[in-house]
Amino acid sequence: MTASGSADLVIVANRLPVDRVVDTDGTLRWRRSPGGLVSALEPVMRVHQGAWIGWPGGTDEELEPFVEDGLQLVPVTLSAREVEEFYEGFSNATLWPLYHDVVAKPLFKREWWEAYKRVNQRFAERAAEVAAPGAMVWVHDYQMQLVPQMLRDLRPDLKIGFFLHIPFPPAELFNQLPWRRQVLEGLLGADIVGFHLPGGAQNFVRLVRTRVGHKTHRDLITLPDGRPVRAGAYPISIDASDFEDLARSPEVTRRAEAIRKALGNPKRVLLGVDRLDYTKGIYPRLRAYAELVADGTFDVEATVFVQVATPSRERVDEYRRMRDEIDMLVGRVNGDLGRIGRPAISYLHSSYPREEMAALYRAADIMVVTPYRDGMNLVCKEYVACRYDNDGALVLSEFAGAAHELSQAWLVNPYDINGMKAAIVEAATADPKEITRRMKAMRKTVSEHDVDRWATGFLDELDAVKPMKPPIRRR
Ligand code: F6P
Repeated sequence: MTASGSADLVIVANRLPVDRVVDTDGTLRWRRSPGGLVSALEPVMRVHQGAWIGWPGGTDEELEPFVEDGLQLVPVTLSAREVEEFYEGFSNATLWPLYHDVVAKPLFKREWWEAYKRVNQRFAERAAEVAAPGAMVWVHDYQMQLVPQMLRDLRPDLKIGFFLHIPFPPAELFNQLPWRRQVLEGLLGADIVGFHLPGGAQNFVRLVRTRVGHKTHRDLITLPDGRPVRAGAYPISIDASDFEDLARSPEVTRRAEAIRKALGNPKRVLLGVDRLDYTKGIYPRLRAYAELVADGTFDVEATVFVQVATPSRERVDEYRRMRDEIDMLVGRVNGDLGRIGRPAISYLHSSYPREEMAALYRAADIMVVTPYRDGMNLVCKEYVACRYDNDGALVLSEFAGAAHELSQAWLVNPYDINGMKAAIVEAATADPKEITRRMKAMRKTVSEHDVDRWATGFLDELDAVKPMKPPIRRR
């Protein structure tokens, strides 16, 4: 067993919750990442003397643990080759497409698997060093699936939770993975394995039963030594009141008006906001819209589609290909259908601060979120949180986890272009009363189930886990 540290709560995630910023004079500083996970976990981290273990970005740089804004951060170094093999390779060219319905073909490379094991072991060792006796360790996401068991081998005294932020696929797809059993066994090191949806938990339990051969009963798995592992659904959310406050601020209100004015004060603004990822269904959505402009349903003088695409994983081949395809589509659509000062699609390949996002959400009459597959999708929840005016329509893919909660959206199948076109037109021509009715219901859901409730719910259950008695040693 490794010597223990002093943190009562340890978060293990691929990335640290801070981004490195280099000022004009060359000084390095850290800025809090915008993600909701950080703000959700920050209060519990402070109460519990928490530590966060993650990759600080960059390569081959040994950084000592440091405290930033009162949070204990423990950097894990990756070499340039590990970034290629563990992050871009196994995490994002093997697991990511495999877990997202094989929307792109997953690549299975043995040297990537070796790097994945090595990096997971490094994260587990770091967690074992910083966790206090009996501490809770919460491991996050697909990049870290071997950490739970590696950590349990080092520190059997810990309470270990795991949460998967992306979908967990059915056996029919998961079984393609040459290292399927090792991944399942890695996850089984946790006391609780969390997913967004009950379907993900069921897929996992079924795989454990059929592939690993452990006993299962509903959401409970019993290991041969008697240790129980629970698989459950914990749908993540956003800091809804924070987004609403932002949306209500005079600055955001002014900015929302300025955005509409800059767009030529159109009658109707449609909005898409995504990481530029092939799972997000950006291409079919823009095609559906372009057809509606081409057939005269929408006129570029009165309607515009604003698509924000945040650059992501730009060195992975599949992402490069998709970017080229979307660039070409937008160029063709605007060339064919746009007029001077009136593009059909206003395309922004960039990332923006939360304030600008809130202003865009307020400026948009229809938010279009059409992933082929998405674990949850937080953009649609952010849109709903910002619409305190109870206005705004949401067109949402039935394959986003969020569709299970936001059933009042106009739900669409992103593979069905005609179906998407019909839903966009319905949303665009809906009675304002109907829009308000739907938005009110969605707002109730989002405000009642925020990210704080998600985090405390999971951690309360983890805290309640009874430690296993150490095995009696026979002489
Ligand atoms: O949704 C999965 C996820 O890994 C998030 O946790 C993260 O914010 C996003 O994708 C971007 O991932 P990356 O760390 O690869 O930039």
